[in-house]
Amino acid sequence: MEKPAQNDHPVDGLLVRRWSPRAFSETPVAAESVRSLLEAARWAPSCFNEQPWSFIVATREEPEAFEKLLGCLRATNQAWAQRAAVLMVAVAKGAFDHNGKPNRHAGHDVGLAVENLMLQAVSLGLFAHAMAGFDASKVRESYGVPEGHDPLVAVAVGYPGNLEDLPEEFRERELAPRERKSLGLFVFGPSWGEPWDGLKSHEGEWE
Ligand SMILES: Cc1cc2nc3c(=O)[nH]c(=O)nc-3n(C[C@H](O)[C@H](O)[C@H](O)COP(=O)(O)O)c2cc1C
Repeated sequence: MEKPAQNDHPVDGLLVRRWSPRAFSETPVAAESVRSLLEAARWAPSCFNEQPWSFIVATREEPEAFEKLLGCLRATNQAWAQRAAVLMVAVAKGAFDHNGKPNRHAGHDVGLAVENLMLQAVSLGLFAHAMAGFDASKVRESYGVPEGHDPLVAVAVGYPGNLEDLPEEFRERELAPRERKSLGLFVFGPSWGEPWDGLKSHEGEWE
């Protein structure tokens, strides 16, 4: 299923095509493709180039490992993510390596890495769906995540599936239109809350 962004201004096709499906095909994802996803994450920019990310990865080809990671998701996410080909948890290191001080951009940088991964997924015909709904303490305990590292977000990856593959309760949301705030609501110029002038169209109307 496709669900392209209804963008108001031109953006790259990868961005248009990316979305967060819950219906995944059980088609396996080749390890080579998973490596490409992680390579894309690797090349994300980061504060002081500290690369504060780590990824825990399990594919359906590793049933035990897959069950272990699936078991860390909240039940509502497990219900659809169990069909994904790959599960991951992205982990943020909270302090800089170079001086030990708190890195307040760690979450930001892990987010950049995850978005790189998601866009690479789209370029390979795959989709990646982020999940806050997982048990970070369970991840910490079952994988021995060290102190100072924060399991930030889980990600399900796979080829797109069919609506019929989804449990009934998710079907309506799968078909619901994708919505976004307009630029004028979050792009400010003269002061907070006042839209940046550059958003005005040729006719002087706010975009
Ligand atoms: C950090 C983060 C956490 C999310 N958590 C969940 C989740 O637990 N379960 C879920 O079904 N979707 C989750 N989502 C997916 C969002 O609901 C989705 O990205 C948003 O509705 C926009 O839709 P789109 O990605 O299709 O554009 C999460 C997304 C992000 C970025």
